[in-house]
Amino acid sequence: MAEAAASAEAAPSLAEALEREHHEIDAGIEAFGTGGAPEAEREALVAAIAALRRHIYLEEEFFFPALSEAGLVAPVFVMLREHGQMWRTLDALTLELRADAGNPEVRTLIRELTVQLQHHNGKEEQILYPQADTALDGQAAERLRTFLADGELPGDWVCQRAG
Ligand SMILES: [Fe+2]
Ligand SMILES: [Fe+2]
Repeated sequence: MAEAAASAEAAPSLAEALEREHHEIDAGIEAFGTGGAPEAEREALVAAIAALRRHIYLEEEFFFPALSEAGLVAPVFVMLREHGQMWRTLDALTLELRADAGNPEVRTLIRELTVQLQHHNGKEEQILYPQADTALDGQAAERLRTFLADGELPGDWVCQRAG
Protein backbone atom coordinates (compact mmCIF):
# COMPACT_ATOMS: atom_id res chain seq x y z
CA MET A 1 0.00 0.00 0.00
CA ALA A 2 1.22 3.49 -0.82
CA GLU A 3 0.43 4.60 2.71
CA ALA A 4 2.53 1.83 4.26
CA ALA A 5 5.41 2.60 1.89
CA ALA A 6 5.26 6.29 2.81
CA SER A 7 5.28 5.57 6.55
CA ALA A 8 8.18 3.13 6.12
CA GLU A 9 10.19 5.87 4.44
CA ALA A 10 9.53 8.35 7.21
CA ALA A 11 9.42 6.01 10.21
CA PRO A 12 8.53 7.97 13.32
CA SER A 13 11.08 8.15 16.10
CA LEU A 14 10.45 5.89 19.08
CA ALA A 15 9.52 8.98 21.09
CA GLU A 16 6.90 9.92 18.51
CA ALA A 17 5.54 6.37 18.31
CA LEU A 18 5.20 6.15 22.09
CA GLU A 19 3.55 9.55 22.32
CA ARG A 20 1.15 8.59 19.55
CA GLU A 21 -0.01 5.63 21.64
CA HIS A 22 -0.77 8.00 24.51
CA HIS A 23 -3.00 10.09 22.24
CA GLU A 24 -4.79 7.07 20.77
CA ILE A 25 -5.50 5.65 24.22
CA ASP A 26 -6.66 9.06 25.52
CA ALA A 27 -9.07 9.37 22.59
CA GLY A 28 -10.74 6.03 23.36
CA ILE A 29 -11.19 6.98 27.01
CA GLU A 30 -12.35 10.55 26.38
CA ALA A 31 -15.00 9.42 23.89
CA PHE A 32 -16.92 7.57 26.59
CA GLY A 33 -20.13 9.31 27.61
CA THR A 34 -19.96 11.97 24.91
CA GLY A 35 -23.28 11.13 23.31
CA GLY A 36 -22.26 8.44 20.82
CA ALA A 37 -23.96 5.07 20.53
CA PRO A 38 -23.53 3.49 23.99
CA GLU A 39 -22.33 0.15 22.64
CA ALA A 40 -19.75 1.82 20.36
CA GLU A 41 -18.50 3.97 23.25
CA ARG A 42 -18.25 0.93 25.49
CA GLU A 43 -16.29 -0.97 22.85
CA ALA A 44 -13.93 1.97 22.32
CA LEU A 45 -13.34 2.16 26.06
CA VAL A 46 -12.67 -1.58 26.36
CA ALA A 47 -10.23 -1.29 23.45
CA ALA A 48 -8.50 1.69 25.10
CA ILE A 49 -8.16 -0.24 28.36
CA ALA A 50 -6.54 -3.14 26.48
CA ALA A 51 -4.28 -0.72 24.61
CA LEU A 52 -3.20 0.94 27.86
CA ARG A 53 -2.35 -2.40 29.47
CA ARG A 54 -0.31 -3.29 26.38
CA HIS A 55 1.39 0.12 26.45
CA ILE A 56 2.35 -0.37 30.11
CA TYR A 57 3.72 -3.79 29.22
CA LEU A 58 5.91 -2.57 26.39
CA GLU A 59 7.29 0.23 28.56
CA GLU A 60 8.12 -2.07 31.45
CA GLU A 61 9.50 -4.88 29.29
CA PHE A 62 11.18 -3.16 26.36
CA PHE A 63 11.88 0.44 27.41
CA PHE A 64 12.35 1.08 31.12
CA PRO A 65 15.15 -1.46 31.71
CA ALA A 66 17.37 0.40 29.22
CA LEU A 67 16.51 3.72 30.84
CA SER A 68 17.44 2.38 34.27
CA GLU A 69 20.76 1.18 32.87
CA ALA A 70 21.30 4.64 31.41
CA GLY A 71 20.97 6.08 34.93
CA LEU A 72 17.32 7.17 34.98
CA VAL A 73 16.54 4.93 37.93
CA ALA A 74 14.51 7.44 39.96
CA PRO A 75 12.14 8.54 37.16
CA VAL A 76 11.62 4.89 36.16
CA PHE A 77 10.79 4.04 39.78
CA VAL A 78 8.11 6.74 39.82
CA MET A 79 6.68 5.55 36.49
CA LEU A 80 6.47 1.95 37.71
CA ARG A 81 4.61 3.08 40.82
CA GLU A 82 2.17 5.08 38.73
CA HIS A 83 1.65 2.12 36.40
CA GLY A 84 0.64 0.13 39.48
CA GLN A 85 -1.90 2.79 40.47
CA MET A 86 -3.34 2.92 36.95
CA TRP A 87 -3.43 -0.88 36.72
CA ARG A 88 -5.64 -1.03 39.81
CA THR A 89 -7.94 1.61 38.31
CA LEU A 90 -8.10 -0.43 35.09
CA ASP A 91 -8.99 -3.58 37.03
CA ALA A 92 -11.81 -1.76 38.85
CA LEU A 93 -13.03 -0.20 35.62
CA THR A 94 -13.02 -3.55 33.83
CA LEU A 95 -15.12 -5.10 36.60
CA GLU A 96 -17.65 -2.25 36.56
CA LEU A 97 -17.92 -2.33 32.77
CA ARG A 98 -18.64 -6.04 32.82
CA ALA A 99 -21.40 -5.51 35.36
CA ASP A 100 -23.01 -2.40 33.86
CA ALA A 101 -21.40 0.26 31.64
CA GLY A 102 -24.12 2.72 32.70
CA ASN A 103 -23.09 2.50 36.35
CA PRO A 104 -22.05 5.97 37.66
CA GLU A 105 -18.97 4.33 39.16
CA VAL A 106 -17.69 3.88 35.59
CA ARG A 107 -17.65 7.68 35.12
CA THR A 108 -15.90 8.14 38.46
CA LEU A 109 -13.20 5.63 37.55
CA ILE A 110 -12.73 7.20 34.11
CA ARG A 111 -12.18 10.60 35.75
CA GLU A 112 -9.65 9.03 38.11
CA LEU A 113 -7.85 7.31 35.24
CA THR A 114 -7.82 10.51 33.18
CA VAL A 115 -6.12 12.43 35.97
CA GLN A 116 -3.61 9.62 36.53
CA LEU A 117 -2.82 9.54 32.81
CA GLN A 118 -2.41 13.31 32.52
CA HIS A 119 0.23 13.38 35.24
CA HIS A 120 1.94 10.20 34.14
CA ASN A 121 2.05 10.83 30.40
CA GLY A 122 3.23 14.39 30.82
CA LYS A 123 6.25 13.21 32.80
CA GLU A 124 7.03 10.41 30.38
CA GLU A 125 6.83 12.72 27.40
CA GLN A 126 9.04 15.37 28.99
CA ILE A 127 11.58 13.26 30.85
CA LEU A 128 11.71 9.70 29.51
CA TYR A 129 10.57 9.65 25.90
CA PRO A 130 13.23 12.14 24.75
CA GLN A 131 15.77 9.44 25.78
CA ALA A 132 14.09 6.65 23.80
CA ASP A 133 16.06 7.18 20.62
CA THR A 134 19.43 7.43 22.36
CA ALA A 135 19.32 5.25 25.51
CA LEU A 136 18.35 2.04 23.71
CA ASP A 137 21.03 0.20 21.76
CA GLY A 138 20.24 -1.03 18.25
CA GLN A 139 18.87 -4.39 19.34
CA ALA A 140 16.72 -3.01 22.15
CA ALA A 141 15.39 -0.26 19.88
CA GLU A 142 14.49 -2.86 17.26
CA ARG A 143 12.70 -5.02 19.83
CA LEU A 144 10.66 -2.04 21.00
CA ARG A 145 9.91 -0.95 17.44
CA THR A 146 8.79 -4.47 16.48
CA PHE A 147 6.52 -4.73 19.50
CA LEU A 148 5.05 -1.29 18.88
CA ALA A 149 4.14 -2.42 15.35
CA ASP A 150 2.17 -5.55 16.19
CA GLY A 151 3.16 -7.05 19.53
CA GLU A 152 0.53 -8.54 21.80
CA LEU A 153 0.22 -8.35 25.56
CA PRO A 154 0.71 -11.80 27.13
CA GLY A 155 -2.68 -12.74 28.61
CA ASP A 156 -1.46 -13.37 32.14
CA TRP A 157 0.89 -10.42 32.46
CA VAL A 158 0.42 -7.86 35.24
CA CYS A 159 2.59 -4.81 35.77
CA GLN A 160 5.45 -4.90 38.27
CA ARG A 161 3.75 -2.74 40.92
CA ALA A 162 0.16 -3.92 40.45
CA GLY A 163 -0.02 -5.62 43.85
FE1 LIG B 1 3.89 4.65 31.37
FE1 LIG C 1 3.52 5.80 28.25
